[in-house]
Amino acid sequence: MAGIYIHIPFCKKACSYCNFHFSTSLTLYHDMVNAIKKEIILRSKNYNEEIETIYYGGGTPSLLKIKDIEDIFLAIENNYNLSNNLEITIEVNPDDLSKEKLKSLSKTKINRISLGIQTLNDNSLKLMKRVHSSKQSIESIENSLLFFKNISIDLIYGIPNKDINSLDQDLRLSQFYDIKHISTYALTVEPKTLLESQINKNLVSMPQDDDVYRQYMYINNFLSNENYENYEMNSYAKKGFYSKNNSGYWLRKKYIGIGPSAHSFDGLTRSWNISNNSKYIKDIESNKLNAKREVLSKVDIYNEYVMTGLRTVWGVSGDYISKNFGKNFYEHFMNKSQSYLKSNHLVKNKDLYTVSKKGKFLTDGIAAELFLIKLK
Ligand SMILES: C[S@@+](CC[C@H](N)C(=O)[O-])C[C@H]1O[C@@H](n2cnc3c(N)ncnc32)[C@H](O)[C@@H]1O
Ligand code: SF4
Repeated sequence: MAGIYIHIPFCKKACSYCNFHFSTSLTLYHDMVNAIKKEIILRSKNYNEEIETIYYGGGTPSLLKIKDIEDIFLAIENNYNLSNNLEITIEVNPDDLSKEKLKSLSKTKINRISLGIQTLNDNSLKLMKRVHSSKQSIESIENSLLFFKNISIDLIYGIPNKDINSLDQDLRLSQFYDIKHISTYALTVEPKTLLESQINKNLVSMPQDDDVYRQYMYINNFLSNENYENYEMNSYAKKGFYSKNNSGYWLRKKYIGIGPSAHSFDGLTRSWNISNNSKYIKDIESNKLNAKREVLSKVDIYNEYVMTGLRTVWGVSGDYISKNFGKNFYEHFMNKSQSYLKSNHLVKNKDLYTVSKKGKFLTDGIAAELFLIKLK
């Protein structure tokens, strides 16, 4: 079982915090769609895995014309072995979603919408240079619900000047509209972003860690009370609505990443496409797959297993470590995990180790302590 991720590298405007790969010029739109379709075909040679998820991500995939969404799907359908139970998600920005667009989207094979709401606080939206208003966000949710049941929203916490009341308002959305899936993101200051330069010039200041922790716990308590399952550190879903795509990443399933900057994983190797639109198009036009790759060592795979396992409800299995990595890795994990069990940051259930509610916010730090050699 595997997934296909398609990176659509265009946005209307750069959000202040984002350093994903995208261009705000649509000049190469047509050539890009053709190159993406061609890469899909080139990568299918000798590929036998069954595909169970397709994810149009970005950038802003809702900038795609409906015909291009369909053609990209056709290229996949004609060249891969698809599961009967495919999850097909598209990331959409609220300002792109008219009723007509949603109606047309609902007639494609897409069966899941992931809406970039981020917050309903208009001051925060302006601060983050989002193109949409909270009014557009609400309309986009209401319109999406007319055509789709499986809807996810992205929310950002830890935004400068934003308090718990504003966060509470964002969370009430989920309650009011019975949103099935919520991905939460702690705002991070990425290199070469406007946010970074605003902070360096003291124009904006990020909240203190304690504040971010309080917001994380507020979200966690609020959504748990609303019967969301916190199946991954920052992901919440109603029963039956875990994202198959996201779960695939956490369960270390294989995926093919198509498009500039897209990452792929085949179980042993991670690779990433060139992050340059015109070079990507030129390479694909001459049948060249331009990706850098890294073959994972046994230590890398163990570290990734511990990190992804601890972030999720599926946890880390001592037995799995012993069988797949051997005695030294097993003993290392057992020794290192003892203090976290004693401090109640980790919980052990039979053979499975998961992070407790107390430890949730600290998951990445705990995982790093359990790595065999700390990741760079
Ligand atoms: C890269 S975007 C793509 C989808 C779409 N363009 C959007 O903005 O919703 C996916 C998610 O990553 C989040 N994101 C990107 N950079 C981030 C950062 N520095 N901190 C927190 N969230 C971030 C976005 O806000 C969005 O929810
Ligand atoms: S957050 Fe989304 S819309 Fe904003 S720049 Fe990043 S990819 Fe584009």
